[in-house]
Amino acid sequence: MSKLAVSGLKAYYFTERGPLKAVDGVNLELADRESIGIVGESGSGKSSLGTALMHSMQAPGKVVEGSILLDGVDLNNMTPSEFSRKIRWKKMAMVFQGAMNALDPVYTVESQLLEILKEHGYSGDTEEKIKNALDSVGLDASVAKKYPHELSGGMKQRIVIAMAILMEPDLLIADEPTTALDVIMQKKIIELLKSLRDERKMNIVLITHDLALVSLIADKIGIMYAGQLVEVGAAGDIYKTPKHPYTKDLIKAIPRLHSTDKKIHFIPGRPPSLINITDGCRFYDRCSYAMDICKKTVPEFPTASGYVRCWLYDPNIQKEKGE
Ligand SMILES: Nc1ncnc2c1ncn2[C@@H]1O[C@H](COP(=O)(O)OP(=O)(O)O)[C@@H](O)[C@H]1O
Ligand SMILES: [Mg+2]
Repeated sequence: MSKLAVSGLKAYYFTERGPLKAVDGVNLELADRESIGIVGESGSGKSSLGTALMHSMQAPGKVVEGSILLDGVDLNNMTPSEFSRKIRWKKMAMVFQGAMNALDPVYTVESQLLEILKEHGYSGDTEEKIKNALDSVGLDASVAKKYPHELSGGMKQRIVIAMAILMEPDLLIADEPTTALDVIMQKKIIELLKSLRDERKMNIVLITHDLALVSLIADKIGIMYAGQLVEVGAAGDIYKTPKHPYTKDLIKAIPRLHSTDKKIHFIPGRPPSLINITDGCRFYDRCSYAMDICKKTVPEFPTASGYVRCWLYDPNIQKEKGE
């Protein structure tokens, strides 16, 4: 059984101008102990996907369709209170985008961690539990007595990760946990997530716009474009043999230090508006391979380690080309 199985997930924001389809038919499977990087440019729906998985979408956002199975249990059918009681923090936790800057300034680290333990009626040794969580994120127990303003950016990010793993969930979603940090600290936070993956045997879902960073941790990569995962596969396959034209462009755009190709690659055009979007491929206007059929629907074809949502990989078209 998969750890996580998401199918046909749709989450929209009901705006005055019509529904904004931020997550529009996402399919995703994660085996136990597998980690995935969800990569896409700003506005592609990554955070919306994370919050939809976590029952945390705020109005006007709402999950409208699809199923989310965690260990075979459908989370979409749960009431908010059932989800809070059984799943949040305990089985699945999320470090929300920008959470490190949203730590409550008037409470010490310890009281913010205690709050979570209280919420779950934790009856063990709270001091020990907090010490362990801090230790797991590479912080000394003395940090518990500090206020957020006394901590560096890297330390604050470690604190929000400590909060997320306090109740020992087996799936952790981390939304852009490195964005506000310098390059060295970024690497350290990724190292930390890796150690949680290996030592605590957690499944990590790392959401980032940085395709280069994700290679350090993810077994799998999902490429998000305009509300859809356009390609999912083993990390090695995505890097070496990207299939979707958008993925290919993204890979080309990663600056390579030692490459002789000094040209900066960028993708012409802009992603479409997600309001009143059509059923055709969202990359259509920017794609040099666009065909008529692409305007109508988006297919999904299996690949060696996942799938690609592009008509170029239609087995019938491949046959015609004699491939
Ligand atoms: N609260 C909201 N109300 C309306 N639209 C929103 C809201 N939050 C996000 N969106 C829109 O949803 C789309 C996806 O946003 P988001 O999930 O934040 O993308 P990403 O995390 O990839 O940058 C964007 O078009 C964004 O403007
Ligand atoms: Mg985001």
